[in-house]
Amino acid sequence: MDAKKTVDSLYRAKTKKSYRMFLDASKIMPGGQSHNARFFEPYPFYTAKARGKYIWDLDGNRYTDYWMGHTALIFGHSPAFLVKALRGQVPNGLLYGTPNRFAYELAAIVNKAVPGAESVRFCTTGAEATMYAVRLARGFTNKKTIVKIAGGWHGYNSALTVGVSSPYEVPESRGLVSDDDARVKLAAFNDIEGTKEVLAENEVDLAAVILEPVMGAGGVLPADAEYLRFLRDACSKVGALLIFDEIITGFRLALGGAQEYYGVKPDITTLGKILGGGLPVSAVAGRGDILELIDANLHKEKTERVWIGGGTFSENALCMKAGISTLERLVEHKKEIYTHLAKMGEKLRKSVDKTFDEQGYRTHTTGIGSLFATHFLSENQNKITSPSDVNSSDRATEKQYYFSLIAKHGIYFIPGHIGALSTSHSESDISKLVVASREFAKHVSK
Ligand SMILES: Cc1ncc(COP(=O)(O)O)c(C=O)c1O
Repeated sequence: MDAKKTVDSLYRAKTKKSYRMFLDASKIMPGGQSHNARFFEPYPFYTAKARGKYIWDLDGNRYTDYWMGHTALIFGHSPAFLVKALRGQVPNGLLYGTPNRFAYELAAIVNKAVPGAESVRFCTTGAEATMYAVRLARGFTNKKTIVKIAGGWHGYNSALTVGVSSPYEVPESRGLVSDDDARVKLAAFNDIEGTKEVLAENEVDLAAVILEPVMGAGGVLPADAEYLRFLRDACSKVGALLIFDEIITGFRLALGGAQEYYGVKPDITTLGKILGGGLPVSAVAGRGDILELIDANLHKEKTERVWIGGGTFSENALCMKAGISTLERLVEHKKEIYTHLAKMGEKLRKSVDKTFDEQGYRTHTTGIGSLFATHFLSENQNKITSPSDVNSSDRATEKQYYFSLIAKHGIYFIPGHIGALSTSHSESDISKLVVASREFAKHVSK
């Protein structure tokens, strides 16, 4: 039996209940679940519970979780302080459907922590926040073109479901309207000269440039500070807005996100994930003069306003409470937390690459701070700096690696996706990951 088959049979043998649920669920739910990224072959395990750094499947297998709820869980699963806060809130109302003090309290923390968040509107998911950000930028500038990064992911909103996966010129989905796509132009990440050209071609109608300062789904690729500074200047020069999608980096790279870390202030910021401490909260935040356009009391005419919501579940008390407790804790322990996570992240990236190197594999574990992903270099590659480098890396070995971590070592990443450390991880987890990586390198057929 070859190595790949052994791993497959090991996984199947230990996840029998998950398999049965996968078959049942697939009859009534497309793909057996509700987020495309969560699927991996032959079928994903189904989770029974999670606590701290661990996640348990239906068959009782325990995994050290590095997916951490799509990177949202900076304190791990169900930290005690959060459980206490949520228990306290449950009897006092979940969804008021009215303005409430919790939303103000959370907004005040965001406003203080995030340099560009002069004003904040809460919504529920990241896709919603980036959809609003685009509408807001177009409404404010009276222009329509948006420049985004090829390979950039901003959630499933239609306006930005363009140029996400290679080949970028092919629409990402049936059902998208091509007129929408035509208003979105792609630029190559960290490529100042190439981006300059795209901006010049679209200068007259340019509403905004949107990017993730650290590309997440595109390969965990940090921006060069120089690239962000260039975008800042270029947008200001032509009156376009700079939007940072900080749904991953917000409260993760630093308390004030990538804009604090890099010292570059965008006009609009989208936030999500950590903002809700594991519950659904997102926000579109930014310059006061821009967000003012969504104040329906000031702008009563349709022609004046930018009409964006928040939605039925916005500002719901339980999620606001989760956000407040999480951010308060981050504020209180800011120094230790970010220094510690960055140190662990650095150690993990270096140790994994060193281990593979010793076993004759060329890898590049990309990332910054607590975010990382291991890429297997193809013959002509020396490092990974762009989504196109990721596309031409050895993705088959990468997939095998992550699957073997799940099947043989009880370590969970979604194969091919971002890894995130939380305060519940420790140095011993890194050592286990290193041992498992060495094992993989020794046994996989090259
Ligand atoms: C950078 C970025 N923006 C937006 C989104 C969309 O957020 P959500 O999944 O909450 O809609 C994601 C989700 O992973 C993301 O990584």
